[in-house]
Amino acid sequence: MPSAGRQVASRGSARGSLLGIEGVSTAEIAKLLQLARKMNPQRPRPLLRGKRVLLLFYEASTRTRVSFEIAAKALGATTTLVLSSGSSIEKGESLLDTAYTLRAVGADLMVVRHPNAGAPHLMAAHVDIPVINAGDGMHEHPTQALLDAYTILRHKRKLEGLQVAIIGDIYHSRVARSAIHLLSKFGAKVVLCGPQELLPELATTLAPGLRITRSCEDAVRGADVVMVLRVQRERLAGLKVNLQDYISRYQMTMTRLRLAKNDALLMHPGPIIRGLELTWDVADCPQSAIVEEVRNGVPVRMAVLARALGKAK
Ligand code: NCD
Repeated sequence: MPSAGRQVASRGSARGSLLGIEGVSTAEIAKLLQLARKMNPQRPRPLLRGKRVLLLFYEASTRTRVSFEIAAKALGATTTLVLSSGSSIEKGESLLDTAYTLRAVGADLMVVRHPNAGAPHLMAAHVDIPVINAGDGMHEHPTQALLDAYTILRHKRKLEGLQVAIIGDIYHSRVARSAIHLLSKFGAKVVLCGPQELLPELATTLAPGLRITRSCEDAVRGADVVMVLRVQRERLAGLKVNLQDYISRYQMTMTRLRLAKNDALLMHPGPIIRGLELTWDVADCPQSAIVEEVRNGVPVRMAVLARALGKAK
């Protein structure tokens, strides 16, 4: 029996969706970053007045969820938050049936975070409104890569030629995957660093020119940008990672950070676990852009939402 939802759904990925960085051109990325520079959350612009933005979060989130919500409201849209707990998802409703339901109540755009890779892509293929990926499993987190590029570009003239060290649990990180795609497209020299279990050799196939090192000192030496990632303990399952060993070999300390260029930027998508992937003093050091990344998430997501709904003026 065809599901009732099919009546409101149309085939083919809805225009305006942002599902990953991998398939987006440098020109399009540059346009989004340019648009983000014109967005000021303190000075709301009613570009999306009357639009309904649905925030569908099947996984924990603080900064991504809140910044999408604030961004949508700064553009005059209304927002509705749907969490997997407390909704019909708990009763076993399928992802697509949830999407059809939200479309039927009048959603104009959906922002989706889901533990499974490809979930936003599936939704975008079945509903006729834009879908924005807010993190799908271990796959992509495109708006994080955009806000990180935006942050880097506020401190460095260009991405091309920058030496970027990405250190930590790269295997489980959608942030790393999206950052690797974006930075490589723009000609940055990306070095990946972590233990074998959290950084398989295969990672070099993500983009041309990637280098892997198992030595944190090697990765950081001479870097313009040092991006530290959280060990995603909730995804470790069968993997054996000795955290004490991890800390001694990969924790970002001031001694290690000093190997980078004097004006190197220290980044982390958050949430940070002080005392694990980085020390307290590193988190709060003058080079730390961690809070700035969060702040920049708002204008960047304003740009993404405006573009998705064709209001990118
Ligand atoms: C990350 C995520 O959820 O992918 N956080 C974020 O969105 N800023 C990274 C993480 O959870 O470690």
